[in-house]
Amino acid sequence: MGFTAKYMVGRHWTKGAGLRRMGEKIPLPLKKGFGATDRVDAWWKGPSAMAFYLGIMVVYATWRGFMEADFWIFADFGRSAGEQTMAIESNGSHVLSPLFSPLIVPDEHSWMPEALWWLSPAMFILIFPAGFRGTCYYYRKAYYRAFFQNPTACAVGKPWNEYKGETGLLIVQNLHRYFLYAAIAYLPILSFDVYLSMRFEGGNWGVSVGTLVLLLNVVMLAGYTFGCHAFRHLVGGGANHWTGESGPTLRYRMWKMSTWFNERHKEWALYSLLVVMFADFYVYACTDAMFGWTDYMLWGGI
Ligand code: FES
Repeated sequence: MGFTAKYMVGRHWTKGAGLRRMGEKIPLPLKKGFGATDRVDAWWKGPSAMAFYLGIMVVYATWRGFMEADFWIFADFGRSAGEQTMAIESNGSHVLSPLFSPLIVPDEHSWMPEALWWLSPAMFILIFPAGFRGTCYYYRKAYYRAFFQNPTACAVGKPWNEYKGETGLLIVQNLHRYFLYAAIAYLPILSFDVYLSMRFEGGNWGVSVGTLVLLLNVVMLAGYTFGCHAFRHLVGGGANHWTGESGPTLRYRMWKMSTWFNERHKEWALYSLLVVMFADFYVYACTDAMFGWTDYMLWGGI
């Protein structure tokens, strides 16, 4: 006999439980104890893979943020000098790692007080993308399971007895919609970086592999941002009707677009994170002689 037949919600007899009312707590037939379950599938594979993937991403981003070096490429600098590169820093042009964008150079010209110059700019910049991902509905599900065993998985016993929901410190998750606004603002900033990577000395234009990597990063982040649940609500949540005099409204079209991305939000979330880290690694590897990578020009340039 299935679960619903035995433990029906409402004014019904449930086996061995007596007459219950709607809303009354009904004990679930779950095994107790960490990892205890009747499931026979490999339920642990998903959370384990997620813990591995997210763990690597977090460690890499933190390490690179503290490293505070090799985060941009320009023509008159290190290995990037000469024919193998793209932009001219004296023109304000460069290929900049997204982990360090927008570019902040802590000196007397920057807004940063001198007492903070020792801090890596990434420590300020990453607050917003990290806050956006950390409060994302998909990532919450992923890391609650992968790192906090809360829950461990569906119908699998967890180490803790209590469930408090997103209360206490986790109330911060409600800031997601505000992090969304910051994430939307990042898209033109990162697009400007793509533009800067194509602008060369004397008004010349060019495209390098680095330009394409930065462009791919913008596309992936746009797909992730436009599929955000809060974005979908922002464009369509308050609409009472979808049609205007001349047909479907702009809001409807945006909501439909957002819905398409939203249905694939998990994929955009995971792959866009990978592309951000790869874009940073690409710049790092092209700048540090240890890797010996070259940012080849594909068209135009100096
Ligand atoms: S729900 Fe995932 S980014 Fe908003």
